Amino acid sequence: MTSTPPPGHPILQALSRRSFLKGLGGGATLLWTAASTGCGYFPAEEGEAYAPWNFPGGEERPEYIAVGAAILAANPHNTQPWLFRITPERIDLYADMSKSLGAMDGLHREMTIGLGCALENLVWAAAAAGRRAEVTLTPDDADPTWVASVALTPATPEPSALYEAIPRRHTNRGRYMNAAPPAELEGALRERVFEPEVHLTFLVEDAERAAFRSGTIDATKAIIHDREMNHDSHVWYRHTKEELDRNRDGLTLDATGAGATLRALGKVVGRPTADEAGQHWLDATRDAHTTGSAFCLLSTPDRDSRREQLLCGRAYQRLHLWATTVGLAMHPLNQMAERQDREQLLGLEPRFTNLLHGLIGSDQMGAQMLFRVGYPWDDALTSPRRPIDWVTR
Ligand SMILES: Cc1cc2nc3c(=O)[nH]c(=O)nc-3n(C[C@H](O)[C@H](O)[C@H](O)COP(=O)(O)O)c2cc1C
Repeated sequence: MTSTPPPGHPILQALSRRSFLKGLGGGATLLWTAASTGCGYFPAEEGEAYAPWNFPGGEERPEYIAVGAAILAANPHNTQPWLFRITPERIDLYADMSKSLGAMDGLHREMTIGLGCALENLVWAAAAAGRRAEVTLTPDDADPTWVASVALTPATPEPSALYEAIPRRHTNRGRYMNAAPPAELEGALRERVFEPEVHLTFLVEDAERAAFRSGTIDATKAIIHDREMNHDSHVWYRHTKEELDRNRDGLTLDATGAGATLRALGKVVGRPTADEAGQHWLDATRDAHTTGSAFCLLSTPDRDSRREQLLCGRAYQRLHLWATTVGLAMHPLNQMAERQDREQLLGLEPRFTNLLHGLIGSDQMGAQMLFRVGYPWDDALTSPRRPIDWVTR
C-alpha cells in the first residue's frame, strides 16, 4: 500500500481542480474568451435533447414503450447508432452506419455492443408493457445492418425492478469511493450474466486493479496520441446548447462527471480543441475514472462475432440496470479494447491485446466490454437523446 491519499480525498479534488483551471488558462482569460467567442453557460439536463428521459411519459402503446426504453440504453460515445422499424407485432433493429465512430471503432464492435444494450432495455420494457418479446439475432446474413428482429405477442404485464431502473441508469464518470465492494457483488454480477458465451472477469485485488488502471491510462495516452482516433472521438463532443439541441447526441461536459463549478467554467470558456479535450480526458482517467471498488471485463470466445457482441451488450446493460437498483455506479472504460481493435486493424504490435489476455487469464477469450463499478460520490447527469421519430425507418 502506498501513502497516496485515497481518490475522493479533498487534497486530490483540490489538485485536480487546480490543474483543470490551469488548463483553462485562469480567471481573466476565461472571461475574455467567453465574451469573445459568444459561448455561454446553460443549465444541465434542460430542453428537448433530454425529453426522452421522461419515460414512459404518457405513452401507452407497448411497441413505443419498448423503443422508448431502447433509446435510453448505453451506447458508444452516445452516437445512438440505431434505427427501428416499428409495428404492433414486431420491432426490427438496424445499425445506423452513418453513426460510425470511425477510427475509434474501426471494427464496429462497440457499435454492435451498443445495439445489444438497446435490445436489452427493449425486452424488459416490452414485458412491463404486456408483450412477450422473442428475439432473433442477425436475422439475415445478406443484411449485416439488420441486427435483430423482435416478435411481440400479448402477455400478462411483468413490471420489474430493472424496467423501473431504465430512466435512472446513467454512466457515472465521477470519482468513486475506493471502498471494498460488498461481499456479494461478484456473485450478484455473475448470476445476471445469462449468456453462456459471455464470461465475466472481476478484478478486485490491489495488484489486479493496479494493472487495469495502468493499462487504461496507457491506452488513453495511446488514443490521444493517435491523431485519427483522437479526431474521430472529438467529432462527437457537443459543447454548446445549440449543438446539443441540433444533434441530441454525443458527449457533453455535463456528462464528464466534473463538479458543477468546473462544468460551468468549461461552458463559458469555449470549445476545447481535440488535443485539449484529449488531455482533460487523460487527467480525468488518472484522477477519477480509475477509482472504484472493482474493474470488470466481459469477454467472449469470438471477439469478431456480431452475435457475441450483441450478447455482451445485453449482459452489460442488464448489469448496469441492476447496479442502478442497488445504488452502485458503473462506467465503461474501453480504452484497452479500443486499442486492441486498432492493433488488429493496422497490424500493430499486440501490446494491449496481450495485456487484456493477461487480465482475463486466457488468450482464448476476447475482451468486449470493460467497466468499473463502485459507490459514487455524486449522482451522474443525463446525456442527450434523439427522439423516437428521428430513429425510425
Ligand atoms: C460499447 C460501449 C463502449 C463504451 N465505452 C466507453 C468508454 O470507454 N468510456 C466512457 O466514458 N464511456 C463509455 N461508454 C458509455 C457511453 O459513452 C454512454 O453510454 C453514452 O454516452 C450514453 O450515456 P448514458 O450511458 O449515461 O446514457 C460506452 C458504452 C458502450 C455501450
